[in-house]
Amino acid sequence: MNKDSLTITDNRTGKTYEIPVANDTVHATDLRQIKVKDDDFGMMTYDPSFMNTALCKSSITFIDGDKGILRYRGYPIEQLAEHCSYLEVSYLILHGELPTSAQLEQWTSEVKMHTFVHENIKRLMQGFRYDAHPMGMFVSTVAALSTFYPEAGDIFSEEKRRKQVLRLIGKVPTVAAFAYRNSTGMPYVYPDNDLTFTGNFLSMMFRAGSNRYKPHPVLEQALDKLFILHADHELNCSTTAMRNVGSSHVDPFSATAAAAAALYGPLHGGANEAVLRMLDHIGDISQIPAFIKGVKAGEGKLMGFGHRVYKNFDPRANVIKKLAEDVFEVTGRNPKLDIALELERIALQDDYFIKRKLYPNVDFYSGLIYQAIGFPVQMFPVLFAIPRTSGWIAHWQEMLNDAEQKIARPRQVYIGSPKRDFVPIEKRR
Ligand code: ACO
Repeated sequence: MNKDSLTITDNRTGKTYEIPVANDTVHATDLRQIKVKDDDFGMMTYDPSFMNTALCKSSITFIDGDKGILRYRGYPIEQLAEHCSYLEVSYLILHGELPTSAQLEQWTSEVKMHTFVHENIKRLMQGFRYDAHPMGMFVSTVAALSTFYPEAGDIFSEEKRRKQVLRLIGKVPTVAAFAYRNSTGMPYVYPDNDLTFTGNFLSMMFRAGSNRYKPHPVLEQALDKLFILHADHELNCSTTAMRNVGSSHVDPFSATAAAAAALYGPLHGGANEAVLRMLDHIGDISQIPAFIKGVKAGEGKLMGFGHRVYKNFDPRANVIKKLAEDVFEVTGRNPKLDIALELERIALQDDYFIKRKLYPNVDFYSGLIYQAIGFPVQMFPVLFAIPRTSGWIAHWQEMLNDAEQKIARPRQVYIGSPKRDFVPIEKRR
């Protein structure tokens, strides 16, 4: 008997099956041979929310949630955050290797060539209500980009695909900043390509009047590092959406819009916004014990804590905690930091959180930094979407080049009514 296999006995029939094992997984379709009657559909796995299902083989990001490890293309996140720029990491994620100086220079200049958007995109964005949520504007505008680049539908042309990759990475900061300026009623600021990728984004966000904007180097670097930390996280909800929607072979702008929509939700990219609202709601350190008591009684969650994958410290949270100190030295201390630190201290000693392995995740401190830099809370998920675009596209490309992938189409276990005959309306009760 092959040792790399699983022997399954079906007690309904007494039959035994040998199922091959590779990479600690069995192929779900190998289970289909397990049947009671010949015309049965065959055995399936039932896995709501994909708790234990591998969707693909991937060589982009490695996470060991029990040990608190995160690596992009094999490189530990802590080392990348310390030594790289976001665009360098974006290159790594998309190409598989860190760039040489010449490659980075070319990549940077190519991305910068695509930071401008068509004037009609600006007009489209001006059509949103004054109080439109910037993430709703971001999702819709990224989808609209597909209508400006119809050749983006030619997804199997490597050359055309590369162009859309550059467009997406280059334009998402512009769309994000325009969404913010719309909400403040300020004129949109066009890209300044003499600045860095992140410096230009800050300029498009905060420039006032005709003076050129000079980003503060500490804040620019802190935001760039936050971009690195958010660039990819393997098969989270939004990346799975990107792969699922992309598997229909739609253009990458539409698929990215779908991924961004998934990121909008409070259980995913909206969590850092929820953390700040929670800190505001707590208001003062003296209220923390009562708040924790409420969480334990099921009255709400400690936002920014817990993770589907990390059952240990989220390594990104460790980097962010240090970043927060650098930023607060420039901006002054955010008083909510003291509430957050105390919440973390108490939660990490509390049996409820220890038993459930609930630790601070990436969102627990990131919102405090964003707020200190001057971003309103509504912009937080948008700030997440800018760098995550690199990860989404890397997964999309990997999926397109993977011969094992087809259109995503899960199965269901039907539990509805059996066949019944139509009842005319006058006879219905
Ligand atoms: N506060 C209090 N209790 C929690 C929390 C929390 N933040 N998170 C999980 N729990 C509890 C659950 O109530 C559950 O308790 P029970 O076993 O008594 O029923 C147990 O811990 C397990 O939690 P699940 O909900 O089963 O864990 P799951 O993996 O489905 O959820 C999630 C992960 C969604 C991140 C969850 O921890 C959560 O809602 N956290 C708060 C929101 C948040 O910070 N999200 C950001 C995630 S990171 C990101 O997307 C970038």
